[in-house]
Amino acid sequence: MNPTLSELEAKATREKTAFGADAHIVCDNLVRIYKTEGVEVVALQGLDLVIDKGELVAIVGASGSGKSTLLNVLSGLDVPTAGVARVAGTDLLAMTAKDRLRYRRSVVGFIWQQTARNLLPYLTARENV
Ligand SMILES: Nc1ncnc2c1ncn2[C@@H]1O[C@H](COP(=O)(O)OP(=O)(O)OP(=O)(O)O)[C@@H](O)[C@H]1O
Ligand SMILES: [Mg+2]
Repeated sequence: MNPTLSELEAKATREKTAFGADAHIVCDNLVRIYKTEGVEVVALQGLDLVIDKGELVAIVGASGSGKSTLLNVLSGLDVPTAGVARVAGTDLLAMTAKDRLRYRRSVVGFIWQQTARNLLPYLTARENV
């Protein structure tokens, strides 16, 4: 039997969850503003992103579009100015220093694009992570 309008309304109200609530990585209206010597640079201007577990994603864009800024936020190296950023249930804006350390040690792996930092040519991609 088809549900009545009031049943559908009740269902819609019940299922009203936060944006990306069940996603592995979620950014909601993420903002990162750099302030240097009185000059403000808006590197991320309200970014929304949802990535599920097991999903493989490449972030592409022009130089200066904010790719590194986003990765720095998601890897726990940088704190965004405003918005929501959550990875594996961890709120990246509300973490204590101790939580941040634990997150960087055991939740995320990050390989830089320059060999001078931590990209070791004699290791596989997995070993590098
Ligand atoms: N530490 C910083 N202080 C001030 N501005 C910054 C800082 N880091 C990045 N920016 C600025 O923020 C914007 C985004 O830079 P970001 O490095 O995230 O871009 P990108 O997409 O990674 O570029 P590329 O492809 O060149 O690596 C640019 O305008 C950049 O000049
Ligand atoms: Mg970059």
